[in-house]
Amino acid sequence: MHHRQLFLRHVAQTSDAPLAIEITQAAGNWLWDADGKKYLDLISGIAVSNIGHGHSAVKSAINDQVDKYMHVMVYGEIVQSPQVQYATWLTNHLPSTLNSVYFVNSGSEAVEGAIKLAKRVTGKTEIISFRNSYHGSTMGALSVGNTEERKNAFRPLIPDNTVLTYNDPAAIQAISSRTAAVIIEPIQAEAGVITPNSEFLQQLREACSTHGAMFILDECQTGFGRTGTLFAFEQMNLVPDILVLGKAVGGGMPLGCFIADIASMQAFTHDPVLGHITTFGGHPVCCAAGLAAAQVLEDEKLMEHIPNLLQVFTSKLQHPKIKSFRHAGLLMAVEFYSVEDNFSIIKKLIDKGLFVDWFLFAADCMRLAPPLTLTRHEAEHACEIILAVLNE
Ligand SMILES: Cc1ncc(COP(=O)(O)O)c(C=O)c1O
Repeated sequence: MHHRQLFLRHVAQTSDAPLAIEITQAAGNWLWDADGKKYLDLISGIAVSNIGHGHSAVKSAINDQVDKYMHVMVYGEIVQSPQVQYATWLTNHLPSTLNSVYFVNSGSEAVEGAIKLAKRVTGKTEIISFRNSYHGSTMGALSVGNTEERKNAFRPLIPDNTVLTYNDPAAIQAISSRTAAVIIEPIQAEAGVITPNSEFLQQLREACSTHGAMFILDECQTGFGRTGTLFAFEQMNLVPDILVLGKAVGGGMPLGCFIADIASMQAFTHDPVLGHITTFGGHPVCCAAGLAAAQVLEDEKLMEHIPNLLQVFTSKLQHPKIKSFRHAGLLMAVEFYSVEDNFSIIKKLIDKGLFVDWFLFAADCMRLAPPLTLTRHEAEHACEIILAVLNE
């Protein structure tokens, strides 16, 4: 029986219409399927493969670590050098108050940890979040994000969550002395690349300071160069109390983390002791891969190349069928006039060898989030195919 049939029969599904393309190889900016057809990757496994696929530095780091040790002990009890080195690299690249890294396995788990930390540090319970944000699918992360439609089937969720509208000044007034934390994406990704109005995030940040709430930024999608700087908040003149990372943080391996000041993070060590624990969080192989990928991002100066690529997309993606084109670095949304148009265009593009996708909360938008290693020539090639499909 073919893998595709076995996939549908034995691998739990998330929709009635999975793409179900069998990928047999991925290298650089390209994917190959079981029939030998190749696809230009324009989504990076949803903001994961920021340095492309199968980079030799990442593969060597993984192999070296596998040769030394894999899992040896649960998180937090013993010194594991890949964790130590990666935590040091991350904190060296962050403002001085973000100096303690708690490694977990995924973005959702990092969100869970951040919420727990904020409750524990502030002694308060209200979590403020924003409509159409996506913070993950576990119960806590689901509670503080998503749409009502996605949440309703799973209620009751965690209590005392207030959901506000992104970019609405009323949100700032809603923060009070009851608020434990505000969690927000610096750029809303799954909502279809929605950027904050000027001052919105700074005012939220200030209101959190005024009312003793923690300001949590979820940079799972915007981190690791995606928007032109290592982290998007660097362009926003603010510093979060807790930074949540996932996706590209593991260089293609499963990893997440939340980062805060050590004085806050110490809260997990007492009342109760082991206030947050994980078996595999910060797996040594994943940390080694993540660190290698982060170093590649820096050493190969991949972020410097973004304006050049963006210039191709912004100048070429102009067409009567395109309603708008939104972008934050290489996190791009092409908005069409209907959901039907979007899905039919995406299907045709995949048939023609461009790997593109939609957004969870913006079904009329096509996602373009290629590896930052995309060449100018590949960007031009992608735009030509997109325009050809739009002209059909
Ligand atoms: C902004 C954001 N936060 C959190 C998550 C959850 O990450 P994970 O799927 O690794 O649990 C995602 C995943 O798409 C995300 O985009």
